[in-house]
Amino acid sequence: ELESETSESSESSSEEEEERVDETETVTETGGTTAGSEPPVETGNQAQSASNTAAAEAPAAPGKIPEPKPPSQPAIFIPVDRSPEIQEARLLLPILAEEQVVMEAVTHNRVVVISGETGSGKTTQVPQFLYEAGYASGDGIIGVTEPRRVAAVSMSQRVAKEMNLSDRVVSYQIRYEGNTTENTKIKFMTDGVLLKEIQRDFLLTKYKVIIIDEAHERSVYTDILIGLLSRIVPLRAKRGRPLKLIIMSATLRVEDFTANESLFPARPPVIEVGTRQFAVTVHFNKRTPLDDYAGEAFRKICKIHRMLPPGGILVFLTGQAEVHSLCRRLRRSFPHRPGHSGKGTVSTLPRIDLANYSSVPLEEEEAEDREAGSDGDGEAGSEADLDLGDGDGAEAETPDPSIPLYVLPLYSMLSAENQAKVFRPAPGGTRLCVVATNVAETSLTIPGIKYVVDCGKSKRRFYDQLTGVSTFRVTWISQASANQRAGRAGRTEPGHCYRLYSSAVFADFEEFSPAEITRRPVDDLVLQMKDLNIEKSLVSAEELLISLGALVEPLQTGRYKELERAKLSCPISPLGRAMASFPVAPRYAKMLALSRQHDCMQYAITLVSALTVRELFEEFNRPAVNEEETQKLKGKRARVAQMQRIWAGQGVSLKLGDLMVVLGAVGACEFAGCTLHFCTQNGLRYKAMLEIRRLRAQLTNATNAIYPEAGLFVDPKMKPPLESQVTMLRQMVLAGLGDQVARRLPPGEVLEDKWRNAYKTPLLDDPVFIHPSSVLFKQLPEFVVYQEIVETSKMYMKGMAEWIPLLLPRYTHFEKPLESPPPSYCPDTGRVRCHRASTFCKYNPCLHGC
Ligand code: CDP
Ligand code: MG
Repeated sequence: ELESETSESSESSSEEEEERVDETETVTETGGTTAGSEPPVETGNQAQSASNTAAAEAPAAPGKIPEPKPPSQPAIFIPVDRSPEIQEARLLLPILAEEQVVMEAVTHNRVVVISGETGSGKTTQVPQFLYEAGYASGDGIIGVTEPRRVAAVSMSQRVAKEMNLSDRVVSYQIRYEGNTTENTKIKFMTDGVLLKEIQRDFLLTKYKVIIIDEAHERSVYTDILIGLLSRIVPLRAKRGRPLKLIIMSATLRVEDFTANESLFPARPPVIEVGTRQFAVTVHFNKRTPLDDYAGEAFRKICKIHRMLPPGGILVFLTGQAEVHSLCRRLRRSFPHRPGHSGKGTVSTLPRIDLANYSSVPLEEEEAEDREAGSDGDGEAGSEADLDLGDGDGAEAETPDPSIPLYVLPLYSMLSAENQAKVFRPAPGGTRLCVVATNVAETSLTIPGIKYVVDCGKSKRRFYDQLTGVSTFRVTWISQASANQRAGRAGRTEPGHCYRLYSSAVFADFEEFSPAEITRRPVDDLVLQMKDLNIEKSLVSAEELLISLGALVEPLQTGRYKELERAKLSCPISPLGRAMASFPVAPRYAKMLALSRQHDCMQYAITLVSALTVRELFEEFNRPAVNEEETQKLKGKRARVAQMQRIWAGQGVSLKLGDLMVVLGAVGACEFAGCTLHFCTQNGLRYKAMLEIRRLRAQLTNATNAIYPEAGLFVDPKMKPPLESQVTMLRQMVLAGLGDQVARRLPPGEVLEDKWRNAYKTPLLDDPVFIHPSSVLFKQLPEFVVYQEIVETSKMYMKGMAEWIPLLLPRYTHFEKPLESPPPSYCPDTGRVRCHRASTFCKYNPCLHGC
């Protein structure tokens, strides 16, 4: 919302967009996620899964149903006072028919898998079943993990509402915030939060049940949690305080968790929840637009809105910025209220009277017709494009194009209140249109969606384990994801999914997306697991991860495996322990642990908070639509560059480069009270600044807890660091980012053009460059350290500081950081002595013995 407000003025207009005739082929899918329009009832299917349940527990006598075992949980019933409307809505959810099957399975098994399509009621209802059966009474509570913050927050709110309980009882905990109390009975949290809790209390004694939700997403923490829980559950049983584990997943990949003997030797029962899924007609584009899928989505939405019967539209795009820009474009084209375009209308208009609307002329109607209507290639073309394929053509003419579109964005970083809007009914007389990233794919079910527009892509972070280069790439999704997306259209009645790509492209999609753990660095996980002090569990967890396919290729060759094993069995160091107690990535944790020695803690905390949040500055690089906007953007860019130069300072401070800019920006912003106005004026992202503020407070508390004598507080009037402190900060940064250094190729050594102004890193053969947004872009220092390399048109280093050439931090020992005095310094250079030479630096061995 805020972002749309701040950049509203420079919004690109869409008027000159040309209408293009879509060639759409229509395919009706009847199988897979889009199967059947009849709600399954509790017959054969469930009976079968129930008997499977029993059989699984008694592998010695296959086929025979064993004697029922005495329940491990006393039969209690905790009454819940639900409102009649809620009760009515619940009864429509397929999982309700399975309550007994679910509860029996949970009673008789330590581990139960529940699989069901999104929207079947798993997340909202299963915790309630357990609560009613007494799993949260007495000395234990129910924990539910979600891979996404959005889901943890919104699901806890929803369940509290359904159960008519306060958020003190049904609560959530995510990284930065939470509302849990000692009265909490059902706790929704992100999977990372539970992993941290395991660190403190390996047996999770607080919980009676853990539900791992969205397990099919194979998020890295979920994978690890399942691995650890598979060990914790038997341990708890031995202690006589059984812990129940429920793994919930969409109907994909269930075998990942059941058919894995090293994970769960007794195959856990699977309860399949039938889904009330209506047929979804899938329409492929004949051609796949190359890049402008957002524009294509816009045109498609306009057509759906103009031509097709009522029903919500859900659009899948890839990123937050895109979501906002499409929202603005749609709001502008189908405004909510005359003279009131775009932002603000949604939040300030709780109810809209249809009568008011129909009498209001929609000013942009004409422009819109040109844009999205049916001129150009003729009406027939457009009609055919949106042919429903099932004889609904007549219906398509009835909708009133003057109906306003109620446009809502949805992505993971959106504030909780704004997220909650998608679950409320759209104001009367409007059509709901949710523009989402793939959070809407499985975690959240939005009511009333009849049309899905799927761009077929998602933004994924790719990380090269070897070179440390991360790339955000917009890539094609998997077939499983595409089918999930399509399924969103058939929740309440038959629906339509418009895929903005061809069926040939779809056929080339991979079947499933690769598990996250294969796509990201795992240093933080290794450190956290070390800190668990459970070498054996660690090794077995690792084995599990391998068998889960989570630690694939590099570990498969025998030798590599030995190597990795050997490394994993290294004991944790005191520095490591100190690092593990900070809730940030190990690199940053090291900076924090070291900063204590140099009286730089408040700066280190600020720096680490900002580096963790990333992208402090607004992007003004988007293409402008007209001269006026070009000038405006140019002005904003110049202003940002000017402020960055001011914050970077001169001399010693400039050597801290972009990191100095970060310190200056946060310092100045806090000094000004961290207002939206200040951020807008200076090109800072308001939300990023708020998050930095939160993280600063959190890290300050964490640091005080570790070093009570530090007595730190978040100083809103933090002074810029002294020169000597800047030098210390540079060393600290190097200690954390010491393997991410680069040296500029001296001009004399440049033979090929591609190496002009290029840098060489130890690991990459190709040239890397300073990102143009860096304050060091023109400085071109010979030695730099970078926060990350991002590959766009070239490989760019971001978050740069100048490197002290003689200091090779990778080999600089800050041993025993908690007890020892600061490391020794070279009397000539004043630099920290390094203990070993590296083959990388041509200055080694250093003349001064540094
Ligand atoms: O977990 P699963 O996908 O199986 O379903 P769920 O998230 O429990 O959703 C069950 C129903 O509750 C859906 O129809 C949602 O639309 C509805 N719901 C809601 O109305 N408001 C929320 N905040 C969350 C869910
Ligand atoms: Mg769910």
